[in-house]
Amino acid sequence: MKTAPFVLAIASVAALLGILGASGCVGASGKSDGAFFVAKVKPTLEYYCMECHNSKTASKFSHFNLETGKLAMSTGLHKPVILPGKPDESLLYVVLRLGHAEALAMPPAPDKISDEQLAAIHRWIRDGAFWPEGPEGHLKTPR
Ligand code: HEC
Repeated sequence: MKTAPFVLAIASVAALLGILGASGCVGASGKSDGAFFVAKVKPTLEYYCMECHNSKTASKFSHFNLETGKLAMSTGLHKPVILPGKPDESLLYVVLRLGHAEALAMPPAPDKISDEQLAAIHRWIRDGAFWPEGPEGHLKTPR
């Protein structure tokens, strides 16, 4: 069939658009998705939190384990500490805003995450706290 290559080209462009649409940072609705988590939230949590809240050490730190989405949503003395859609009621966000005079301020002194990183976490929880599965959603422990 003569038109086959042309049809094939259209099909692959459509497939490509489909893939891009599904993994873009912010969807057409303006809501953050898995790519937003990977780009704007995961690096902050890995850098500031994983030293303590990983599978090996979580038992010493309120049993809160941030290694995967499933663990983050189901561990911690005050679980669930992430309430999708409700950032201001989520302990994970609340502790980030505490002054260092409070024992529960995270990350513990002297570290402090930036306003920009804080805003990204607020937005991510507000939009449903989507946390991808697999390697993308697996947080590494430093060193
Ligand atoms: C140096 C170790 C350390 C680091 C790094 C750290 N935490 Fe913690 N975390 C603790 C300790 C200790 C507690 C218990 C504090 C308490 O009960 O007074 C805790 C408790 C928590 C809790 C309460 C869990 C519950 O269910 O009670 C949350 C939420 C939390 N941390 C989030 C974070 C986040 C988010 C980060 C990164 C921004 C972070 N922590 C970084 C040591 C750490």
